[in-house]
Amino acid sequence: MRDFEEYIARKALVEEHLLDFLPEVDPKSSALYAAMHYSLKSGGKRIRPVLLLAACEFAGGEAREALPYACAVEYIHCYSLIHDDLPGMDDDELRRGLPTNHMVYGEGMAVLAGDGLLTTAFEAMNKDMLIYFDDPVKLKRRVRASHEISKGAGCRGMAAGQAADIEAAGKSIAGELLDYIHLNKTAAPIVAAVKAGAFIGGATKEVLTALENYAENLGLAFQIADDILDVTGDEGELGKRTGADRARAKPTYPALYGVEQSRKRLAALTESATDALASFYDNAEFFIKAAQYLASRNG
Ligand code: IPE
Ligand code: IPE
Ligand code: MG
Ligand code: MG
Ligand code: MG
Repeated sequence: MRDFEEYIARKALVEEHLLDFLPEVDPKSSALYAAMHYSLKSGGKRIRPVLLLAACEFAGGEAREALPYACAVEYIHCYSLIHDDLPGMDDDELRRGLPTNHMVYGEGMAVLAGDGLLTTAFEAMNKDMLIYFDDPVKLKRRVRASHEISKGAGCRGMAAGQAADIEAAGKSIAGELLDYIHLNKTAAPIVAAVKAGAFIGGATKEVLTALENYAENLGLAFQIADDILDVTGDEGELGKRTGADRARAKPTYPALYGVEQSRKRLAALTESATDALASFYDNAEFFIKAAQYLASRNG
């Protein structure tokens, strides 16, 4: 399925501002900046920041006020990809159609580029919070957003899922553990992005719960689609090597259930995601299109 208009517009906003929150380049550590830029500007769907901006607007806010948080989640995502590709993790050489960060800059610099991106994400959010210091309502929304983003990235989210993913490689695992891995390594940062946007936009409890439910289903579906594409996808479209999961005996849906069953689960989760927003009718059109787009993507 092709990109759709409301997605393209939000993605363009993210691209335009993605580098705004990076500190100035220090010539004495220019390799670090080069490595950070390399991964940030190498493309990608930008789905997490786009969802964050959309959630902010859905909740009643303006996309622009959520930009530091949108860029922060993309910084964290790019860091997670750099580290995920390292020899000690998935040991991949191709990402977004280009050599992985460590292939170009070396392992040490790739680790540091990840560190730089992760910490810059929190620098960007904290700097934004300082602007709202005299506005307790807006400040609280931003603290909540940053809190969600930190939980989604850390040892109650992505890092925990990635750790379980490493430990599960080469083993036969139960479906419950596979879901734990996918919900943490992939769904948690997506849920965090959506909730952060909702907080900044001033979401009601009802909107927040519906969006959270949507994002959890979408997040799990997202990783199942990624697992399926590793088996059935095209390297040119994906920009990463196919067959890599099987070669490393990674814990994936196709490995445990086969491609057909995985496709069924992907479809069911996509339906659950859209059902979560059913009571909002036409207002939720973007999120429904996004779920369908992500389930049917080739890249
Ligand atoms: C890849 O994420 C890592 C997963 C969580 C599956 P994306 O598929 O969002 O990667 P980009 O950002 O579009 O390259
Ligand atoms: C990685 O999952 C999820 C992250 C938290 C980065 P994968 O290892 O399947 O992602 P790809 O296939 O390398 O993009
Ligand atoms: Mg991985
Ligand atoms: Mg990987
Ligand atoms: Mg994968």
